[in-house]
Amino acid sequence: MTDKERIATELDAVRRRSLALLDPVPDDDLVRQHSPLMSPLVWDLAHVGNYEEQWLLGAVAGTRVAAHLDGIYDAFRNARKDRPQLDLLGPVEARTYVTDVRSRVLDVLERLELDGDGLLDEGFVYGMVVQHEHQHDETMTATLQLRTSTEYPLVDITDVGDAGDADASLPSEVRVDAGPFLMGTDLEPWAYDNERPAHTVDVDSFWIDTAPVTNAAFVEFIADGGYDDRRWWTDEGWAWRQKAGLQHPEFWAPDGAGGWVRTRLGRVEDVPPHEPVQHVCWYEADAYARWAGKRLPTEAEWEKAASWTPDGVKRRYPWGDDPTPFLANLSTSSRFSPAPDGTFPGDASPWGCRQMIGDVWEWTSSDFMPYPGFRSFPYREYSEVFFGTEYKVLRGGSWATHPTAIRTTFRNWDFPIRRQIFAGFRCARDA
Ligand SMILES: [Fe+2]
Repeated sequence: MTDKERIATELDAVRRRSLALLDPVPDDDLVRQHSPLMSPLVWDLAHVGNYEEQWLLGAVAGTRVAAHLDGIYDAFRNARKDRPQLDLLGPVEARTYVTDVRSRVLDVLERLELDGDGLLDEGFVYGMVVQHEHQHDETMTATLQLRTSTEYPLVDITDVGDAGDADASLPSEVRVDAGPFLMGTDLEPWAYDNERPAHTVDVDSFWIDTAPVTNAAFVEFIADGGYDDRRWWTDEGWAWRQKAGLQHPEFWAPDGAGGWVRTRLGRVEDVPPHEPVQHVCWYEADAYARWAGKRLPTEAEWEKAASWTPDGVKRRYPWGDDPTPFLANLSTSSRFSPAPDGTFPGDASPWGCRQMIGDVWEWTSSDFMPYPGFRSFPYREYSEVFFGTEYKVLRGGSWATHPTAIRTTFRNWDFPIRRQIFAGFRCARDA
């Protein structure tokens, strides 16, 4: 496949995903705001089209079709809570707009030379736009999860089985040897600025959990009074736990018989014991780790355990460099849920860690900081304006992340109080 063919295929795939995701949602639910944390879904849809227009028509070809929409769909000018009050395109207009932009983008792509300056180098700007839309698809999936009153239609998954018991023989932790490793990337053509440059980091030896913390393990923390035990919480974490009244992961409720149910895309179901826990904030993850006598891994530890072989070779994915077949539970598996450990048996990292890509984003102990030698590209608002101690880094992607938008060097970040994202964690400790 040529670069242009790959780009056209990726553009087509992400648009199919976006439209299919929204297809079952009635128009009045597309324009409604389901949570002050999220945009109306119809804003996300036109926003991805506007972003595509700005970069793949404006920046690449110097042409625009609807520059007057920039003010409405600029994420920095409009906080999410204010977006319902904007003069938004309706569902029909939004679909027409993104389709119109796309047909012009494909015309431009056909005429273009894909080399030269940084934006076009190896199709970078196209990769940026494709990943941006996939990231919004994950955000829209989180919005659909917050719309708890309506059952979102799910595809039947044939491989559903609780594989957790099959892997009870796995060690609960693996040891990663001390020594330097290469963090970040210079080679990945579609990597974001915050993943660059590749640089050597010396890491002490450490133990890291083989798999993310499961629902069953998290239930033990709850049953042991973990939410009410001040010892396990940082000062900020305890203050937030009190203020927000945290007592269990978001979307969970007691089942009346000593167990737990969860609401998933509008369905109430038993909490599956062997799936990774999700919808916990950083403070809850950190408190659990202390209760377990451990800590959260740093992002350097996480990346080394996921990507570095004992022989000193960097891998794009835990299992190797080959993107196909994709050996992890990502959006392409259509589960709309994390999977029990063992469901994707080929996903182990060189050290034996499982489920590092897909299932749940994993909170790390690290603040979101630039790598040494960081250079903002192509715009400050992608990463640079977020650097600092306010945000914690998450790694590895979730079941709602697309393969094109994840790799072992990929960095995500969010506030430590956020729970609507598909985030869980694994623990680590010093060796
Ligand atoms: Fe965006």
